[in-house]
Amino acid sequence: MTTLLQINASINNGNGQSSQLARQFVAALQKREPEASVVVRDVAAAEPVPHLDAARFGAFITPAEQRDAAQHSVVAYSDTLIDELKCADVIVLGLPMYNFGVPSQLKAYFDHIARAGVTFKYTEHGPVGLLTGKKAYVFAARGGLYAGTPLDTQTHYVRDFLRFVGITEVEFIYAEGLALGPQSKETNLARAAAEIARLAA
Ligand SMILES: Cc1cc2nc3c(=O)[nH]c(=O)nc-3n(C[C@H](O)[C@H](O)[C@H](O)COP(=O)(O)O)c2cc1C
Repeated sequence: MTTLLQINASINNGNGQSSQLARQFVAALQKREPEASVVVRDVAAAEPVPHLDAARFGAFITPAEQRDAAQHSVVAYSDTLIDELKCADVIVLGLPMYNFGVPSQLKAYFDHIARAGVTFKYTEHGPVGLLTGKKAYVFAARGGLYAGTPLDTQTHYVRDFLRFVGITEVEFIYAEGLALGPQSKETNLARAAAEIARLAA
């Protein structure tokens, strides 16, 4: 049975355009495979991921038997996020653009799932990702138009990060121009919906 993990990163809860597109895609996949199970992780609104600081990172790198109670709880939280990824066959990420970058809470989420020896390991040939055998779809919602230009700071970054932890099959679907007037919004959301239908067919 397929497990789908939908990650929402919009500050607008499930109502963000990126979350709505991610949800539409998950629903389309579920229609194709009704037994598929779905887990939703909201990293920015419902349960914001705290930013990484020295104490949290310190917990990650402290050997398990030496961790105090607070450190155990930090690692348990990170483990929960990682277990969701490990269990997922398909990851569907709603990715808003805020101030030319990814939401800071998504960065915080990435900071909590990048764990040496758990999601990647260092080898003599460089780092190797351990979350293999998954496919990711990224629904990027933007007010302006950036795809394919140097101003698109998100695509390379998200693709590189996912590759670092072993998720190499990544497809981006863009809903851009959402703040360029009602016509642009409508056209671009319709284009994204058509992509969803094509990908889930
Ligand atoms: C705080 C904030 C900053 C934004 N910054 C940008 C930006 O730098 N570039 C852009 O194209 N759109 C920007 N937008 C527009 C969003 O990308 C757009 O509203 C998108 O739908 C956000 O995704 P969401 O609806 O899933 O939250 C910004 C929106 C907000 C609320």
